[in-house]
Amino acid sequence: MFHARFVGTLTVLCFSFLTSALSQSARQAASLDINLQKPIHKVSPMLYGLMTEEINYSYDGGLYAELVQNRAFHDQTYTNEKRDPAHWTLVQKGDARASMAVQKGTGPSAALADSLKLSVEKADAASPAGVENEGYWGIPLRANTTYRGSLYAKADNGSVGPLTISLVNDNLGNAVAKATVPALSADWKQYTVELKTGDMETSADNHLLLSVQHPGTVWIDLISLFPPTYHDRTNGNRIDLMEKLAAMKPAFLRFPGGNYLEGDHIRERYEWKKTIGPLVNRPTHPSPWHYHSSDGMGLLEFLEWCEDLRMQPLLAVYAGYSMAQEHVTPGPDLDPYVQEALEEIEYVTGDTATKWGGERAKNGHPAPFPLAYVEIGNEDWFDKSGSYDGRYAQFYDAIKKKYPNLQLIATTAVKSRKPDLIDDHFYRSAESFFDDVHHYDQTDRSGPKIFVGEWATREGTPTPNFNAALGDAAWMTGMERNSDVVVMASYAPLLVNVNPGGMQWATDLIGYDAITSYGSPSYYAQAMFSSSLGDEVFDANIKGAGPRLFCSVTGSKANGSVFLKLVNASSMAQPLDIKLNGATPAGKGGKLISLSAHSPEETNTLSASTRIKPVETTLTEAGTSFQHTAPPYSIQVLELSLKY
Ligand code: AHR
Repeated sequence: MFHARFVGTLTVLCFSFLTSALSQSARQAASLDINLQKPIHKVSPMLYGLMTEEINYSYDGGLYAELVQNRAFHDQTYTNEKRDPAHWTLVQKGDARASMAVQKGTGPSAALADSLKLSVEKADAASPAGVENEGYWGIPLRANTTYRGSLYAKADNGSVGPLTISLVNDNLGNAVAKATVPALSADWKQYTVELKTGDMETSADNHLLLSVQHPGTVWIDLISLFPPTYHDRTNGNRIDLMEKLAAMKPAFLRFPGGNYLEGDHIRERYEWKKTIGPLVNRPTHPSPWHYHSSDGMGLLEFLEWCEDLRMQPLLAVYAGYSMAQEHVTPGPDLDPYVQEALEEIEYVTGDTATKWGGERAKNGHPAPFPLAYVEIGNEDWFDKSGSYDGRYAQFYDAIKKKYPNLQLIATTAVKSRKPDLIDDHFYRSAESFFDDVHHYDQTDRSGPKIFVGEWATREGTPTPNFNAALGDAAWMTGMERNSDVVVMASYAPLLVNVNPGGMQWATDLIGYDAITSYGSPSYYAQAMFSSSLGDEVFDANIKGAGPRLFCSVTGSKANGSVFLKLVNASSMAQPLDIKLNGATPAGKGGKLISLSAHSPEETNTLSASTRIKPVETTLTEAGTSFQHTAPPYSIQVLELSLKY
């Protein structure tokens, strides 16, 4: 009964009536009546989060701050009739003579069993020989900054002498920072160095050079270079990108995928145990997005990322399906995968007395992480075998038995068990989001909750244009209004390296190259919506507005704040007579945050990174009854201070 009444109320929310003013250049004023007397329902505090995976060089060459590409020589290219390690070049200065080759079966660990063999026939101080790495579309260097370098190396004998590590500017040909490893031993050993730049222009036109000045043979592996990182974490994340993510105020992080969780083949799935511990013990793996993953962003790094941004982890566990239509049959065959997931949860949440909690402590994080949500698989509607129902049930039963408080998410409808949440995905045009803002109004409130785990308006590349931001914002008003049932949502994909070849999926929230990054209009829309969210939803009734006006109203009674979000996706301004019933002014006026563009195609780029950005002004007139005009192509948040 409650449900039927509730749905009836929702259908009138924000319903915009087509006016006869469509042919006019400015619209007639519409009325917007907001009822603050009685909230409709609570807002989910988990509503806005992040979805992430290794795609578009999101971690390697992106968030994960490592500057050396192909540091363990897993990527190789076929050149000059032989296999060469990708992104590495042989250097023979002056009269030096040398060769390089990936040597199988000689490496610093069982996980990294191959290495690069540098054979130097002739070299001296004036004619050094070595190898250089081009980084991820360059190596970004800044003035007066310390870079942490490390590598594993060994030599056939001491005659090869010291190994010099330099950061060389491509345009000047000079080293801008240098360090030396005095002598290499005959056994594998890790060497660490610090490289400090002096005064210089910030630039990505640099490479890393490892060189020797005497003949001999050297093997090297896991060559790494880190700039300063967010919160100064070793093996940490890029500062500018973390700051952009922090500004989105995300409540959770869904990881590790996406398709990246599943892999193309079962053997290429995300195997969490191979992503923990010292980097030298991580074998790395091929990712479904056509490049090799270094796995430097491993399970613990995902969790520390959550810790740094105060997000709850939403852990997706591999559930026996990989994208080349490979599945594991439910029953005994699936048991090892279920066990793998249980152990993964123990790694995240177990205390140090547990086997995997103890392992996490050994990896440097004794304190368990909070965990409330576990997703079983990803997009299992693609599994044509129909095995998901059975696979879900097997994971569900085992996880609930050991961890009854965990909320378990299904990736598609299942009959065998009632999931706590279902993950819905939407990749659409703006128009289709405009048309479907009432998508969840009729959803059965007694069924599973909804997690919109991937969604985006796909207009604009590499990052969304303003029309996409309008589609996104309209869709978010619908999710907010239904946030009793849509309890979590995350845009996807989150990150893209905009260099040529960096993107595998067009339309991504945040773009970057080696040096700098920018937020798309959709990024700013997300940040605005997430930063201005009350704890209850209120009824808002629009009459007489154009068809592309959308709104949602949330508020926090305790703080006396009301957040009115208006999305005008039309080329015409929309005047509004706004009434807030059941409130009295708190005498503090209000705040208006406005994001707008001259045309739907307008966008941000690396070089015009804030062409479209939120602008904040004061609303002096805003009381319980006032007029406001939503400009053409605009997304606005009106934050009002009221007593109610
Ligand atoms: O977000 C890109 C991809 O879209 C995800 O990896 C997958 O889950 C979806 O199909």
